[in-house]
Amino acid sequence: MTHHTGPDPEKIHSMFASIATRYDRTNTVLSAGIHHLWRRKTVRWSDAQPGDRVLDCATGTGDLAIAFHKVTGNATGTDFVPEMIQLAREKSKNVYFEVADVTNLPYDDATFDIASISFGIRNVADPKKGLAEMARVVKKGGRVMVLEFGQPQRRAFGAAYNLYTRHILPRLGGTLTGDRAAYEYLQKSAGRFPCGDDFVALMRASAEFASIEYKALTMGVAYLYRGVRG
Ligand SMILES: C[S@@+](CC[C@H](N)C(=O)[O-])C[C@H]1O[C@@H](n2cnc3c(N)ncnc32)[C@H](O)[C@@H]1O
Repeated sequence: MTHHTGPDPEKIHSMFASIATRYDRTNTVLSAGIHHLWRRKTVRWSDAQPGDRVLDCATGTGDLAIAFHKVTGNATGTDFVPEMIQLAREKSKNVYFEVADVTNLPYDDATFDIASISFGIRNVADPKKGLAEMARVVKKGGRVMVLEFGQPQRRAFGAAYNLYTRHILPRLGGTLTGDRAAYEYLQKSAGRFPCGDDFVALMRASAEFASIEYKALTMGVAYLYRGVRG
């Protein structure tokens, strides 16, 4: 799998603008707080060190950028929805947040030690271009970290998870945000987005990496990828 065409960027833009203010609380309820553990794992596996320059793309309300900042003291968060960036700025005064599209990043080549994206790449209209841009702005030896939903591999757990994502998640997400369609989209997009080796193939097609490794988290509900820039 080397080609994946993402969703319509205008629809994605207005969907995230409309749920922005209810986004954090809904995340915590729907994932039972596990998303915080996944983010901490992302920071640990990136091997981030104090002083490293980190760029978090599609940062939303900024949680991953803030988690990186705690370790490096030098993180920037970007998203193409201004409403999200506004909320992120209110959450942290220390992290620098600005509006930017991951498929067209306003930074020079080899600027950052780490570029990250959590639960964002699935929503990017041209994910290959997004990954190429993240790789471009990272220095040689720097890391591109991607955290994204996948499909659980074990059948028994997969069946229970499918029941949750198909029937409970859209209702609960709809009740919490008033936008059920956004959570039907979450379920559908997560269910078909390439994971594991298929996503590695997409990363390889996007840029030159010296190595790409991945880990399945929480039985494959999410996947964490780590590409080292060649
Ligand atoms: C599910 S949210 C994830 C937010 C955050 N990273 C997190 O982990 O909670 C997806 C985010 O991707 C952003 N997004 C989608 N396409 C984008 C693009 N092309 N450039 C920048 N941000 C984008 C949306 O605005 C939204 O804030």
